[in-house]
Amino acid sequence: MLKKINTKTIKLLKFYKLINYNLIYNNKVINRYKNKNYEISSDKAKKLEKLKNNISEIKNCELKKNASQMVFSDGNPKANIMLIGEGPGANEDKEGIPFVGRAGILLDKMLASINLDRKKVYISNVVNYRPPENRRPTDEEIKRYLPFITQHIAIISPKILVLMGSTAMNALVENEEVISKVRGKWIEKQFGNCKTSVIVTFHPAFLMRQPAQKKMAWVDLKMIRDKKAKLKI
Ligand code: URA
Repeated sequence: MLKKINTKTIKLLKFYKLINYNLIYNNKVINRYKNKNYEISSDKAKKLEKLKNNISEIKNCELKKNASQMVFSDGNPKANIMLIGEGPGANEDKEGIPFVGRAGILLDKMLASINLDRKKVYISNVVNYRPPENRRPTDEEIKRYLPFITQHIAIISPKILVLMGSTAMNALVENEEVISKVRGKWIEKQFGNCKTSVIVTFHPAFLMRQPAQKKMAWVDLKMIRDKKAKLKI
C-alpha cells in the first residue's frame, strides 16, 4: 500500500515539476509550426480552406471587428486527437495561431506529460476571433460560431476530442453543467459523419489560476493517454 502511494506521489510530483510555475510564468510567445507542411488529402485541404473562407465572410460580428486576424487552428490536420479551447487571446490574435501565450505554454507541457506534441494533435477554438478584453464570448457569439467548429470537427474527424474549459463544454456537449461534474469521463458524440470519444477537462488558463486542480487535470490526461493506447493511435 505504502509503495503504491509513493509511486503515485512521485508521478504527481514529476508532473508538477514538468509544468512548474517558473516555466508557466516565464512566458514567451511561441512561434511554432508556421511553415508546417502536413500531407493531407486534397479533399480535406479543400474542406478546410472552404471553412476558413466561410468564417472570414462572417458579417456584423463584434469579435471580428475588434480582432486583428482570424485564428483558425494549429497542429496536424491528420491527427486523431483534437483539442478545443474557448477563443484566442492577445498573443494568439497577434500570431494567428491558437494557444501560443501563457496558457499555450502550459498546454504544451500537459501534452508533453503524455508524450504528445502539436505535431500529433490538432487545436482550435470555439470562436475564431479574439473577444475584446479577453471576455468570454457571449451566448449569441457562440451560437454563430457553433456551425463552424462543428464542421471543423467533422472535417478533422478525430477519434478523441478534448474540450478544454466550460465554453467548449457548454457549446459542444450541450451541457449547462459545471466542469467538475462532467470532466473525467468519456462521452460518445457524433459531429456530421464523425463519431468521436469526447472528454472534458479544465482549461489551462483556469489551471494557472487554480493550481490545486492540476491533480484532476492529470487524471484526465492519463485517461487520454490510456484511450490513445486502447485505440492504438
Ligand atoms: N485560450 C483559449 O481558449 N484559446 C487560445 O487559443 C488561447 C487561450
